[in-house]
Amino acid sequence: MSEQRLAGKIAIVTGAGQGIGLGIAERFTREGAHVVVAEINRETVYTAAEHLSSLGREAMAYPMDVGDLDQIDQMVRDVVARFGRIDILINNAGLSNKASFFELTPEIWDTLQRVNQRGLFFCLQAVARQMVAQIPDEVKQAGRADRSYGKIINLSSIAGRRGRADALHYSVSKSAVITITQGAALALAPYNINVNAICPSVVPTQMWVNLDKAMGEANGLPPGEWYRRRVERIPLKRPGTVEEVAALTTFLASSDGDYITAQTYNLDGGSELN
Ligand SMILES: NC(=O)c1ccc[n+]([C@@H]2O[C@H](COP(=O)([O-])OP(=O)(O)OC[C@H]3O[C@@H](n4cnc5c(N)ncnc54)[C@H](O)[C@@H]3O)[C@@H](O)[C@H]2O)c1
Repeated sequence: MSEQRLAGKIAIVTGAGQGIGLGIAERFTREGAHVVVAEINRETVYTAAEHLSSLGREAMAYPMDVGDLDQIDQMVRDVVARFGRIDILINNAGLSNKASFFELTPEIWDTLQRVNQRGLFFCLQAVARQMVAQIPDEVKQAGRADRSYGKIINLSSIAGRRGRADALHYSVSKSAVITITQGAALALAPYNINVNAICPSVVPTQMWVNLDKAMGEANGLPPGEWYRRRVERIPLKRPGTVEEVAALTTFLASSDGDYITAQTYNLDGGSELN
C-alpha cells in the first residue's frame, strides 16, 4: 500500500464485529491504525480482533454494550491504559428492528433508542472528554490549533433524513444522530475535534438479511424480493458496499478531513438530494 493515512492512530469502532463496522475496522487497520473492536456479540468481538491483528496491527477485542454508560466509561479507561490515548471514534453500533406504525410499543421504542441514540451520544461524550484531556495546555490556552485533536464519525442513515411510515422509531433515532453530530461538532469545535456523520442507504449486511425476511413475510414476498425491489429504487441501480462506507470514513478520519466538521454525508447512490 502507498502512504498509510492513519498510521499509528488509535481508533475505537463500535459494533465492529461484522458488517459496516468490521469493514471500517479492516480499512483502518490497513491504513496503519490500531483498532478497538467495541462489540456486544461475544463471538464476533474476538474473531474480528483476531482477524485485524493478523493484518499486522495490534487490535483490541472489547466486549461491551454501548447502551450501558458504566461500560462506556470503563472502555475509555481501559483503552487509554493500553494505548495511551484515543484519536478516532466511529459510532457505528446500531439496531434496526422492524415495527410498523401500529406495532410500535414503548419497549421496542426504548430498546432501539437506548443503543442508536442514547448509547451513541454518551459514547461520543466520554471519548470527547478524553480527547480534550489529551490536548496540550498551551494549545487549549491559545484557543486555536493548526490540526485536529480528534475525529468522531457517526453512522446515521438516509432513514434519518425524513419521517418514515415504516420503521418510524429507526428514522427518529437516525435523525437524532444528525442533530447530535451538529451539536457535538459545535461544542467541540473550540478543541479542534471534528464530528461528522454518514448516511448509507442500502449496504448488504446482516441487517438487510433480517429486514428482507421480516418485510418479505409481512408483505407475502419470497426471500430476496423485498430487498431486490428496494435496490431497484436506487438511482445508481445497485447497493453500496462496506468498502465504500469505509473509504468515506477513512477520508473523514484522516488529515484530509481536518477542515470538515458538523456535516452529514449521504452515501446512497443518489437516493436523497439533500
Ligand atoms: N447496512 C445498511 O444498509 C445501513 C444503512 C444505513 C445505516 N446503517 C447503519 O450502519 C451501522 C452498521 O450497520 P450494519 O448494516 O453493519 O449492521 P449489523 O447489524 O450488520 O451490525 C451492527 C453491529 O453492531 C453491534 N451492536 C448492536 N448493538 C450493540 C450494542 N448495544 N453495543 C455494542 N455493539 C452493538 C452488533 O452486534 C453488530 O455487530 C448501524 O448503525 C446502521 O444503523 C446501515
